[in-house]
Amino acid sequence: MLEAIPPREEDKILRLMKLFAEDPRMGKIDLGVGVYHDAEGRTPIFGAVKAAEQRLVEQQESKGYVGLAGDPAFHRAMAGLVLGALAETLPYAACGTPGGTGAVRQGFELMKLAGNPQRRIWLPDPSWINHGSILDTLGIPRAEYRYYDAATGGIDRDGMLEDLGRAAPGDVVLLHGCCHNPTGADLSLQDWAELTRLLAARGLTPFVDLAYQGFGDGLEADVAGLRDMVAALPETIITVSASKNFGLYRERVGCVIAPCADPKARDMTHAALAWLNRQNYAFPPDHGARVVTEILTDPGLRTDWQGELDGMRERMKTNRTALAAELRRLTGSDRFGFLQAHKGMFTQLGLTPAQVMALREAHGLYMVEDSRINLAGLTDATIPPAAEAIAAVL
Ligand code: LMR
Repeated sequence: MLEAIPPREEDKILRLMKLFAEDPRMGKIDLGVGVYHDAEGRTPIFGAVKAAEQRLVEQQESKGYVGLAGDPAFHRAMAGLVLGALAETLPYAACGTPGGTGAVRQGFELMKLAGNPQRRIWLPDPSWINHGSILDTLGIPRAEYRYYDAATGGIDRDGMLEDLGRAAPGDVVLLHGCCHNPTGADLSLQDWAELTRLLAARGLTPFVDLAYQGFGDGLEADVAGLRDMVAALPETIITVSASKNFGLYRERVGCVIAPCADPKARDMTHAALAWLNRQNYAFPPDHGARVVTEILTDPGLRTDWQGELDGMRERMKTNRTALAAELRRLTGSDRFGFLQAHKGMFTQLGLTPAQVMALREAHGLYMVEDSRINLAGLTDATIPPAAEAIAAVL
């Protein structure tokens, strides 16, 4: 039986990890997978995480099961982080998931449970590679709306609104909460407001994937647009990851938060999410979620964590500025000027797959095939050679 399984296409982002690890060249540079690196090239454990883990080691008395949806204290802590004061007033359903990908998967399955097999989900063009892949695996119809304008390095506003104007009532629209993956081009507050009006007028539901809160302009600024939208619409599905902003990648910490129209809808949605957890993996992982809860509910740990997160964001911004300056100097043009306007960990450079391949083969510079780079992969020492390699393949 097993030999009958057809081979699957490998995920383009994860394949790079393997290729990079196997490359024996000194001086190779990894700008591939979205994992934070410090100036020494390490992916550090936050001090606040270590401290919270230490407390758990000392104080935790049981590893018995929690609820199917995970720990309510974790839901409250994450809803507070994402929704701010709205979490006090809006009814919302929530459940813990294995990472942000687990949340995305559960969110998509939730859509499916709501019936209407014709319901489509609209993805931005481009979007995180795995969005389309999971939807196809689940057999959920999808469409694309114009999002990134490669010519300007910004948002194609008119194209986006025109395409979403063709969505059928009941369709779902996927938005990146902040730090758009792969392009780095984010919606402005005005864009969020305009989209909110369009979604309300056409009866569309927002599905917001939030994997990088705190990596753009700050914990509050990064979700300002999302909060405005949540406050104005009857329901939103939000999928959250703590992989990046808590550095808890391998612990798999994520959740679905779904603000609902009323308490009845909240209870039904909560029960559906718990049921989905049961079908897929029963209980969500607890350790990382408990670490996050500990940090968010302890003022001292929270301050420490925020300071560390601010430092990471500033490092990525500094790398952006330095790379943009170096590329300006080498190309004598403003071709990569958009780097400065982009937010978060990523930017798409607008190179062809052949140029990306040449960078990998001739220069040991690794980026995703769509020319997405991870700014955290750069250091003071590697920015000049990386910029030189990029300029060389143009
Ligand atoms: C990325 O986009 O590189 C990250 O979100 C890691 C992943 O799982 O793809």
